[in-house]
Amino acid sequence: MESSAYHPVPSHLDALANSGLAVLPRYFDAALVDALRDEIHAARAAAGLRRARIGRGSGRRLAAAVRGDWIRWLDGSTEAQRLFLARLEEIRQEVNLALTLGLFEVEAHFALYPPGAGYQRHVDAFQHDNPRRLSAVLYLNRHWRRAQGGELAVYDAHDREVLRVLPEAGTLVLFLSQSVPHAVLPTHRWRASIAAWFRVRQADNPLAALARLQPDDLV
Ligand code: OGA
Ligand code: MN
Repeated sequence: MESSAYHPVPSHLDALANSGLAVLPRYFDAALVDALRDEIHAARAAAGLRRARIGRGSGRRLAAAVRGDWIRWLDGSTEAQRLFLARLEEIRQEVNLALTLGLFEVEAHFALYPPGAGYQRHVDAFQHDNPRRLSAVLYLNRHWRRAQGGELAVYDAHDREVLRVLPEAGTLVLFLSQSVPHAVLPTHRWRASIAAWFRVRQADNPLAALARLQPDDLV
């Protein structure tokens, strides 16, 4: 029988469809991860990171007790960033085919958590007008041990913890931005990652179109 409409769904897309979350260890190769880690540490040394903020629009503010990371938006200015963004584009297309989320574009920033920092429990797209639908986090830290803290903790709808993920180099986590509560547990060593959000188009909303020009306003 002809089965041209059937394509096997990779297991991470299966996991995403069934539980809203997929963890992919060693998803990116070590050379790319090393290059990205070097970039964020170079940016830190050159004072090229900014304190992350919470909230959107007029509610946007610093709140280091809630969120203690320092960030820098990817702009595709290096080969490593271009390779990473190209892979995200492939994921966007795969996910759109498998899950019909209508993902339109992606934004991504490096994040560096100093010792003592974390990010309290939250969802990435809380407000109804937030266009984020799928979150992706790539970790850049070699040889992470549990005792070093800094795990991603994932919660269910009743705020019970269901999973912890070590922020180990090469691991990619994908989860639905609107429905998966999560936190970064306080870290005891420098913790580097890239956080990315796939967004749906918001063509009918001129304010959203404006905001697209300034991705920092959406953190
Ligand atoms: C975020 C976030 C998780 C992580 O940046 O919104 O939740 O493990 N990051 O870095
Ligand atoms: Mn988050």
